[in-house]
Amino acid sequence: MFERLEILPPDPILGVTAAYRADPEPAKVDLGVGVYRDETGNTPVPAAVREAERTLLAAQASKSYVGPAGNLEFNERIVELALGPGLATALRDRTATIQTVGGCGALRVGAELLRVASPGTVIHASEPTWANHEPLVGSSGLALRRYPYYDPSSRGVDFDRTLDHLAQLPPGEVVLLHACCHNPTGADLDAAQWAALAELLERRGLVPFVDLAYQGFGDDLETDVAGLRMLAARVPTLLLAISCSKNFGLYRERAGALAIVAPDAATARAIATHQARTARRMYSMPPDHGAAIAARVMGDAPLRSAWAAELAGMVARMKSLRALLAGRLAARRPDRDFSWLVRHRGMFSLLGLDAAAIARLREQEHVYVPPDGRINVAGVSEENVDRVAEAILRVLDLQ
Ligand code: LMR
Repeated sequence: MFERLEILPPDPILGVTAAYRADPEPAKVDLGVGVYRDETGNTPVPAAVREAERTLLAAQASKSYVGPAGNLEFNERIVELALGPGLATALRDRTATIQTVGGCGALRVGAELLRVASPGTVIHASEPTWANHEPLVGSSGLALRRYPYYDPSSRGVDFDRTLDHLAQLPPGEVVLLHACCHNPTGADLDAAQWAALAELLERRGLVPFVDLAYQGFGDDLETDVAGLRMLAARVPTLLLAISCSKNFGLYRERAGALAIVAPDAATARAIATHQARTARRMYSMPPDHGAAIAARVMGDAPLRSAWAAELAGMVARMKSLRALLAGRLAARRPDRDFSWLVRHRGMFSLLGLDAAAIARLREQEHVYVPPDGRINVAGVSEENVDRVAEAILRVLDLQ
């Protein structure tokens, strides 16, 4: 039966990690997968998360099943973190939330629900978007199309083209948005653009599906979700996929949630039953550990403020690494503009390299980036920044 299967190419992002690990070169640099790194190159567990985990394990009396919707306290707190207490309370009766297997699980369950509710639904994703959006959403059977977003020449958002394109879409179609720290471009919408987008989506009857994977990684826990909150306060229906991987450092624990805001409470109650059935059919119920830890961090005032402070430290470090790399590039090549590196938010920026240059970066320079030329600035350090800057300039000059 399986003899007919052929070996697949490596995953565009996870394959970079495997290739990096296999390279014997001691001075190799990993700017691939989107994980935060400290100055030693480690992806730390925040101290507050570690402490919550310790007390959780000490108090845990049972590992019996929780249920398809997962940890209900987590579900409530994570939505409150995203929407803010006021809006979360105002929308509570209209919101159906399920804990998921990371943010990926939330995207996939959301796509499954859209297919069940309306099989012909078309989802529109930004051009470009995270390499796993299309496989995750597309494998549910829904059609996925693109809307213009990034302008490689300005390295910012081509917002007029985005709005013009979305304005032509028929009502009921779904628009996949990045709440902050756009992956892979780092180019985010500003407040005025979010307001214009919210107005358009509401007026045209389009349904936002917001991917929130980096709350607290752009500027801070509030600023990063200001656009999302504006949108959620306005539109009748919204899907929100939340990941706790980056901001809680819980990557491998797979903690996330899918919240769906419905036009009314009765619809939200029906959605909750379909969320549970979808989970039951796919994987039955989500893993408990990571969500239980996140719930504890969010629910305990001292842990929560310690965590927020640590997160603020990570953001400050990423911003300083952006400035460091931009400075080293500009010092070597004052004729070129690298200020976009500092303007972007989160871990990612696109280098704007062609496929040959990206291959050269890996094979000759031992600097590892995904095939779209995205860099994870958290992989840059005081120690490797000169090597990285020189490698980037060498391949840029050859292209
Ligand atoms: C990334 O974009 O590198 C991360 O979100 C990790 C992943 O699963 O791709």
